[in-house]
Amino acid sequence: MNLIETVSYEEMSIKAAEIIFEKVKNKPASTLGLATGGTPLGTYRELINIYNKERTSFQHLSTINLDEYVGLADDHPQSYHMYMHEHLFKYLDIPASQTHLPDGLAKDLDGECARYDKLIEQLGGVDLQLLGIGQNGHIGFNEPGTLFNTRTHVETLTESTRKANARYFSNQSDVPTHAITMGIQSIFQSREILLLASGIKKAEAIRRLIEGDVTEDFPASILKNHANLTVIADREALSKSTI
Ligand code: F6R
Repeated sequence: MNLIETVSYEEMSIKAAEIIFEKVKNKPASTLGLATGGTPLGTYRELINIYNKERTSFQHLSTINLDEYVGLADDHPQSYHMYMHEHLFKYLDIPASQTHLPDGLAKDLDGECARYDKLIEQLGGVDLQLLGIGQNGHIGFNEPGTLFNTRTHVETLTESTRKANARYFSNQSDVPTHAITMGIQSIFQSREILLLASGIKKAEAIRRLIEGDVTEDFPASILKNHANLTVIADREALSKSTI
């Protein structure tokens, strides 16, 4: 594991954006695996800044997101489709046909999961996967107890995850109960993984990631076995770890 400590969320975001930009510069037709949530917001902002400053093009890039809520339409304000559009895609020149998220409204959810796995394969696999981490160690929406060999599947969200995500909805009962998520195996197969963590709320999860055992009770722990994992964490997120 390559661990980078930063003093702040801003520095974490700048470093992450630089790594992503370098990747795209070196391989313009990369497939980027993307995440949503609070953590990558600054990274996306910085990536847009570099993109504008360098007057570059991302037209050959493909993106594949980790997850989407079941039951939310693409244009629902809290859907991850909308999040990606608002925070990243509308600022870049990636053709819409090259940006991919699971379809939360698919009638045949198992069929949608199979389509998504096939798509990852067709894209040649993920070159760089960006990840946040849940306080309970979830990655994507793979909650504790999810088998390490899972591909894209429908996950029942834990109450703690629904509570953490309730801040984006008018009330907690509006938070969907299920999500389609890339599985742990699908994530692990990425050629490179960049996991970000910021703030005291993530300190225990980061401690467990760095110091704990590899166990399905803590999904992110499998990443320790990945040959090309970079963790960028700020001081607060690292405050409970002995490094
Ligand atoms: C988002 C995702 C989740 C988040 C995690 C942390 O696509 O898959 O695993 O990365 O819940 O969320 P934040 O960044 O809001 O703390």
